[in-house]
Amino acid sequence: MKVLVIGSGGREHALLWRLAQSPSVTEVYAITGNDGMSDVAHLIPVKGHEDIIDFARLMNVDLTVAGPETVLTEGLADEFAEKGLAFFGPSKAAARIEGSKGFAKNLMKKYGVPTAAYEVFTDEDKAVEYLKANKKYPIVIKADGLAAGKGVIIAQTEKEAIDTVKDMLEGHSFGGAGRSVVIEEFMEGEEASVLCFCDGTTVVPMVSSQDHKRIYDGDKGPNTGGMGAYAPAPVMTDDMMDEVKVKILRPMMAAMKKEGYPFVGCLYAGLMITDEGPKVVEFNCRFGDPETEAVLPLFDGDLAQVMLDCVHGKLTKEEVKWKKGCAVDVVMASEGYPASHSSGEVISGLEEAKATGCLVFHAGTMKKNGEYLVNGGRVLNVVALAPTLAEAKAKAYEGVSKIHWRGVQYRKDIADKGLHHLEEKK
Ligand code: AMP
Ligand code: GLY
Repeated sequence: MKVLVIGSGGREHALLWRLAQSPSVTEVYAITGNDGMSDVAHLIPVKGHEDIIDFARLMNVDLTVAGPETVLTEGLADEFAEKGLAFFGPSKAAARIEGSKGFAKNLMKKYGVPTAAYEVFTDEDKAVEYLKANKKYPIVIKADGLAAGKGVIIAQTEKEAIDTVKDMLEGHSFGGAGRSVVIEEFMEGEEASVLCFCDGTTVVPMVSSQDHKRIYDGDKGPNTGGMGAYAPAPVMTDDMMDEVKVKILRPMMAAMKKEGYPFVGCLYAGLMITDEGPKVVEFNCRFGDPETEAVLPLFDGDLAQVMLDCVHGKLTKEEVKWKKGCAVDVVMASEGYPASHSSGEVISGLEEAKATGCLVFHAGTMKKNGEYLVNGGRVLNVVALAPTLAEAKAKAYEGVSKIHWRGVQYRKDIADKGLHHLEEKK
């Protein structure tokens, strides 16, 4: 099989690396990828839907996989389907599950999928009236459209909530994405991510994982794209995963099919494990980043075949297998991230890090005169596999300790919440 992955981050490097190991795969292409992926894929510098489709058609690509949500909400899956080309990723209609928070919330409400209570507003006066009547703070305010994961404000007071809503509805923040806002109940608990293979009817969850969204240790500081992940997440016990399947994943799969937009691809359920059980924080219509970098190294099977079976509506849970053990992914970011990022610094120690047995997935790097340079906010993912979470953490940080550049920053506490759960269980 010839396989194409669209995207250029650490998630896509992990996808390419895993797909390249599929027994059924002969060639792997990335559009447009990054220099660090050239170890596993041919980098193809084309842009635009038409050129991507032409490439897939002319090169007889058997399977195309989308990384980022943007191409999906723009309808690239539909365009591939029109040409009879296999594409792992949801249609434009199904991608609204991520593209519009209001849409996702309404669907969950209609089908009784547990999530925070909410209201959607486009009218500022009505939103302010609602906030004045609300007595429970904090409250969560979300820009309705795509805002690169940054359109969520947890307002601690009524004043902060009203200011935020005004700002969003008047279009000052998040541009068009904030012209409609979702106001929802604050859920108390611990978060976990469950990525799932979906074929439109059947949903098979991958091992659970947990992201670390804030920039600093102890979940302090501003939100980022994600500073690290580990898998599986001990907070997601087997019983909890069964509850997630029965109350959330299967009903959503059935709902989307019934509504006429079956979901094919990777459905990402962002969950809050509350005292009342698991509730949905958000759905994404694609693999998570950095969760994918921790989850896929544990996958044990033919990834390309599983994805192709999803595209053809033939997914079975038997073909989705997992290795024993744990994975920890530490994200190394550049100076200034997440507000800004630096670029051009020379990265040293990549080979030494790999020599510790870690995997290194590239995100914001570029190669110049034989050296890797910083070229983005999230720069590298250092991933370790080990029999236990504690060993995986120690090994990942050993890998991290070999890599240097001026201004590098990373969290020192990736996987600590998981380790804490394991301590409690003892
Ligand atoms: P979202 O973009 O919807 O995933 O939200 C970003 C982050 O905001 C989530 O990962 C949570 O940490 C937090 N968050 C969102 N909604 C809620 C909620 N209803 N209660 C508590 N925290 C939330
Ligand atoms: N890890 C969060 C995301 O991929 O949206």
